[in-house]
Amino acid sequence: MKKACITGTGSYVPEKVLTNFDLEKFLDTSDEWIVTRTGIRERRVAADGEYTSDLAAHAARRALEMANVEAEEIDFIVVGTITGDFPWPATACLVQDKLGASKAIAYDVSAACSGFVYAIDAAVSRIESGRSSKALVIGAEILTRVVDWQDRNTCVLFGDGAGAVVLEATEEDRGILSTHLHSDGSCWELLYQPGFGSRNPASDDGLKARLPFLRMQGNEVFKIAVRSLSDVAIEALEANGLTSTDVDLFIPHQANRRILDATAKRLGLTDDQVYINVDRYGNTSGASIPIALDEANRAGRIKKGDMVLLDAFGGGFTWGSALIRW
Ligand code: UT7
Repeated sequence: MKKACITGTGSYVPEKVLTNFDLEKFLDTSDEWIVTRTGIRERRVAADGEYTSDLAAHAARRALEMANVEAEEIDFIVVGTITGDFPWPATACLVQDKLGASKAIAYDVSAACSGFVYAIDAAVSRIESGRSSKALVIGAEILTRVVDWQDRNTCVLFGDGAGAVVLEATEEDRGILSTHLHSDGSCWELLYQPGFGSRNPASDDGLKARLPFLRMQGNEVFKIAVRSLSDVAIEALEANGLTSTDVDLFIPHQANRRILDATAKRLGLTDDQVYINVDRYGNTSGASIPIALDEANRAGRIKKGDMVLLDAFGGGFTWGSALIRW
């Protein structure tokens, strides 16, 4: 059976930086509180007229360039996003059009912060079964347009950005070694966007009740996130006969520095095994892992043969891991 191998990575974050000090100017919050509780110092904000598909296309072009693959060669595009340009059509279709990837099939995956790992799983399934040979897997979000800027409990946490990888079929014994995914729909109310879908269709009253904005019970999510992230990382290692000392780079979803530290501690990972950039981008949901992966790759933190472990948790709840021999 062929394996799916990452041959290119790319990322893009909008130019505008919003610091914690900027937030202090219009919100009852402080840089001290945000840094202590989350490790976040700043986040990026998409410009007017800049959409999720634009961020995704920028990241995708950079990944294609690194892989030396033309857009026309791509046969599958999957975008992990919960903040697409529209409820439908899929942002992946808009990206296909922007790239001119006319041979690709394209759809989105809605798995919140686990969107990229879920999307990787979809691409691996297609490649290993021979139905695709060159795939673009993207995580892209503009969360600053769905957070409630009057709610200090949530708006300080999130940011915008996109990351992408090109996955190609290979006969070599490397690439994505395994994916492990989980879901638990019983917790959906702890982290969700109440409007406007079929349960709360668009209405003026709904707008007044601030239904179109993200809601989260942070404390509850925190505890379940740490447990789920560590469990699914251990599941990946055990399935491959490895332990945490075999991991060259652990790239968890960048939600909160305290979640990352607690997870790394449970896994027995040292600081230099863990990639962290939540201080610069905040939580970019489905985009956080591919942005971190691209940064680490371009900074020379990942070498051929390295063992890289991706680990995600998000709304749904959804969580999952992907183990890669680079
Ligand atoms: O992407 C995957 C899903 N998301 C996550 O994984 C996020 C998970 N949760 C978290 O990261 C944390 O729970 C938060 C960062 C959201 C909150 O941290 P916490 O340590 O759980 O704080 P808390 O919710 O218990 O709030 C403590 C206090 C409260 O004040 P009182 O009630 O104790 O007087 C909040 O009102 O901090 C207050 N607070 C703030 N103060 C200043 C909440 N947000 C802010 C703020 N600035 N931005």
